[in-house]
Amino acid sequence: MSLQPKIKLLEEKHKQAELGGGQARIDKQHAAGRKTARERIEVLLDLNSFVEVDKFVTHTATDFGMEKNKILGDGVVTGHGKIDGRLVYVFAQDFTVFGGSLSRANANKIIKIMDLAMKMGAPVIGLNDSGGARIQEGVESLAGYADIFYRNVRSSGVIPQISAILGPCAGGAVYSPAITDFIMMVKETSYMFVTGPDVIKTVTNEEVTKEDLGGAMTHNKKSGVAHFTADDDEQAMMMIRELMSFLPSNNMEDPPERPCSDDPNRVIPELDDIVPTDPNRPYNMMEIIMPVIDNNHFLEVQPHYAQNIIVGFARICGKPVGIVANQPAVLAGVLDIDSSTKAARFVRFCDAFNIPLVTFEDVPGFLPGTAQEFGGIIKHGAKLLYAFAEATVPKITIITRKAYGGAYDVMSSKHIGADYNYAFPTAEIAVMGPEGAVNIIHRNALDNEEERTKAVDDYRNNFASPFKAAELGYIDEIIYPHNTRVKLRQALEMTQNKTDSNPPKKHGNIPL
Ligand code: HXC
Repeated sequence: MSLQPKIKLLEEKHKQAELGGGQARIDKQHAAGRKTARERIEVLLDLNSFVEVDKFVTHTATDFGMEKNKILGDGVVTGHGKIDGRLVYVFAQDFTVFGGSLSRANANKIIKIMDLAMKMGAPVIGLNDSGGARIQEGVESLAGYADIFYRNVRSSGVIPQISAILGPCAGGAVYSPAITDFIMMVKETSYMFVTGPDVIKTVTNEEVTKEDLGGAMTHNKKSGVAHFTADDDEQAMMMIRELMSFLPSNNMEDPPERPCSDDPNRVIPELDDIVPTDPNRPYNMMEIIMPVIDNNHFLEVQPHYAQNIIVGFARICGKPVGIVANQPAVLAGVLDIDSSTKAARFVRFCDAFNIPLVTFEDVPGFLPGTAQEFGGIIKHGAKLLYAFAEATVPKITIITRKAYGGAYDVMSSKHIGADYNYAFPTAEIAVMGPEGAVNIIHRNALDNEEERTKAVDDYRNNFASPFKAAELGYIDEIIYPHNTRVKLRQALEMTQNKTDSNPPKKHGNIPL
């Protein structure tokens, strides 16, 4: 008997599944400036590498006449493919099918690839575009969400998990992306909130638009929930590919090295003139970071949030590094609640995935004020201290200028386990700035301007320098700024076989 009719049936089913909720809904999706689930996957993955699983899965609901309304795939496209030749697992919610809502069957598809990803040691990328829990299914859908959350948590720190928000993501559904390592949002077409504008109006009488409440810039700038913004779906997919290029597939691998395409011995004369002689003048830390890394290529994470600290990925002589840097151009680079939590989460990500940490330090201390104290700067600042101290990856620190007070200790100091601590000759390492110190220890001299100026100068000359710390071995080397790239390369080579671990424990108790 010919196989032809059966092959035709298979072909027919493929076509049906690929049409999702039908051409009209696909057109509506396009008209809203959004790609379909399959189109997104095509842009995200290497050409022709996607292998779809569970393409013919349908839901099993029978209420509300659902038994007569089944669509192959049931609103989520799942499978595996490659990014730069490396295995990744993907799920993409298909808004054209029941608004991408999560049914039991739909959740089972996601869970299946999450389990596979853990077994194979490969990242999971979730493309979210969904009206939330499948209303017709009730608790079955809630159970599906919880099954996903559980796997998100168990996978945390084992495989990278990346979420793109490409449409609605509301209610409890936000908690899966929130647990993943990075959230990408698309401007004007994506939003995330726990309760939407209508509920807020009823409960608190506040009026707010969807975009203001949970749009891409709200979460990238105000709340710090998201890490990246893209102008459209295509750019979002390309940015995820770029992010992946810095990450290992799992916590047992090193991050992907590339051949060094930038001179490893490059000296950078302009660095000798970046730090101003006047300690109160700001400068842009990016002017130090960019020339030091390979090919000026820096993937900044959360560039719009807590801009007084910079975090992101780069390569030095082909090796991926995580950079943490105070930004003296914003709030003098002070540590506050937002910058501490931003950097702490980044440090913990790098540590979980074997990415060495390079810290550029110019910090006047922690931000004073009742807003900070009442907001819990003590516990939030402690997060950063905890994260740096707990990290066992290579840790290299360069103090460019101020390293004052507790912030000196926190910013990957020798005392909390940094492997190599450099200082520029312009570094000022002391308990506090000269003005503040003189105000306290020379109270009597304060009336006499001349004596006061002298006391400040004496303090600066004697204490606000890197030499005291170097005498004590807390700074390993005071370097010429123009040699920063060479020195970082040497330190990364020196630490590349580092083995270190924390004492055995169930888990630590980071102050949350
Ligand atoms: C079933 C849904 C759905 C849902 C949308 N659809 N959301 N079907 N369950 N949750 C369907 C619609 O019926 C419609 O079907 C199609 O998807 C597209 O929806 P539209 O409303 O036409 O699209 P749009 O105007 O763009 O509005 C999108 C939306 C809206 C804002 C997401 O659909 C909406 O408010 N949906 C309900 C959201 C919600 O309350 N979800 C439950 C949240 S609670 P047709 O056939 O007409 O194309 C939750 C709990 C999670 O999620 C808990 C986890 C712990």
